[in-house]
Amino acid sequence: MNKKIIEKLPEALLPWYKIHHRELPWRKTSDPYAIWLSEIMLQQTRVEAVKGYYLRFLETYPSVEALASAEDDRLHKLWEGLGYYSRVRNLKKAANQIMERHTGIFPQEYDQVLALSGVGEYTAGAICSIAFNQPRAAVDGNVMRILSRLTENATPIDDPAFKRQAKQALEEIYPEEAGTFTQALMELGATVCGPNGKPQCQICPCAQFCSGRLHGTAESYPVKKPKVKRREEQRTVLILSCGGRYALEKRPSAGLLAGLYQFPNVTGWMDTQQVLKLVEELGLRPQELLRQVKRHHIFTHIRWELEGIYLEVAQPGGAYRWMTGEEIEKEAALPTAFRQFWEEIKDV
Ligand code: ADE
Repeated sequence: MNKKIIEKLPEALLPWYKIHHRELPWRKTSDPYAIWLSEIMLQQTRVEAVKGYYLRFLETYPSVEALASAEDDRLHKLWEGLGYYSRVRNLKKAANQIMERHTGIFPQEYDQVLALSGVGEYTAGAICSIAFNQPRAAVDGNVMRILSRLTENATPIDDPAFKRQAKQALEEIYPEEAGTFTQALMELGATVCGPNGKPQCQICPCAQFCSGRLHGTAESYPVKKPKVKRREEQRTVLILSCGGRYALEKRPSAGLLAGLYQFPNVTGWMDTQQVLKLVEELGLRPQELLRQVKRHHIFTHIRWELEGIYLEVAQPGGAYRWMTGEEIEKEAALPTAFRQFWEEIKDV
């Protein structure tokens, strides 16, 4: 990392941030609990998507203590649609760790923050700098993109060496206003030095000393390793109804989408005959095939190709919870992969 360039950042970013930053709900608080929550929600998720969830969550669980004793279904329901559900399970786990290890008071020590479930180096850096004004860097893809353009660094940003070097270089030049600096870097990455297409160098406070800008190479950075392809999986999803109730089940308590609800589903696609046979084997009597739709859902490592089959059955039965539409809306955290089949019919 080129220290001569990086050390110019605070002077350029702090005054710029004070004028240009967006008003965001988590920027109005100094409560470490609320800041932690925002950083967890903002992992892999857009600011606009997070805002509403953040406020609802804080209203329902305003403190570490309230979260530690949260009821799982209610908690999952509040997270429904936000994705990456292990985040919410880790939140509750970490809340309990704070109760047990720190008598319910959010720890300030970096290593203690880092030791909480679901908190990695990025989040620990963000919390310690934003909530406690410590000189800790929060290095994510946005910050790495800025640094790679600024210094024309050709190390792929998905190489762990890049993150390590970036964190170290930044922490050597952290200013007094640590929290503001962390947020200013995030803000620059979100609003000026963005990921897709051209960076907006004409409005950038770093344009004077950015190598990428000065040499016209900014768009060629960051460098990334070639992508690995997602594994593709075909699944048949059964939307079984009986007089306005729908068959749902809970997913296993470990693995993908653990503990959330789903429509019954199996690996592979099936023709109508196979589906009818399967439904009978599940202890149900199929009456009418209502509709069939194809959808997909993308996870980090898997792409699901889904075929939804809507069937009315004669009697509720099998090992399912038969829920009304209202119960589904109010109680069941139905992840987006399955929810899309519910959206298809919920208003008809
Ligand atoms: N992305 C991650 N953390 C953020 C924050 N505190 N503000 C805006 N965007 C973010």
